[in-house]
Amino acid sequence: MKFKLLLAATIGLSLTAISAPIVAQDDPIAARQAAMKAMGGALKAGDTATVAAKAAELKLLFPEGSMSEKSEASPKIWEEWDDFIAIFDKLEADATAGAAVPVLGGSCKACHDNYRVKKG
Ligand code: HEC
Repeated sequence: MKFKLLLAATIGLSLTAISAPIVAQDDPIAARQAAMKAMGGALKAGDTATVAAKAAELKLLFPEGSMSEKSEASPKIWEEWDDFIAIFDKLEADATAGAAVPVLGGSCKACHDNYRVKKG
């Protein structure tokens, strides 16, 4: 039983690891919006492990200049890339350490305030 669970976890993890870069090339905007939504669901559920995994995945989903009418990404992301990624790094580290939901939520807000341009 334990082994099966472990196996499922391992397969689940490796699948995300494989699929992220492929999705990134296809349609990084749709992929990151879906990952953000999933991260929001995980945050509400207090599932810090998933928040950490999504934060790691999201770092790969902002290729330079990936903007569109549908995207709320600010061009500042690529002007201040190191600062932008540092917020994901902090979120990932905090979530890995099992930090409380409001602490994690602070990183969501810190980034959205600076790097997300709300559209109608
Ligand atoms: C380092 C920056 C950063 C962090 C950290 C971050 N976000 Fe985002 N988020 C963005 C950007 C940029 C967008 C806009 C993406 C786009 O539309 O291309 C976005 C979009 C979203 C969206 C809208 C997705 C959609 O369907 O359009 C949700 C929901 C969201 N974030 C939730 C979260 C939650 C919850 C957290 C924290 C657990 C979080 N984000 C942390 C940068 C960040």
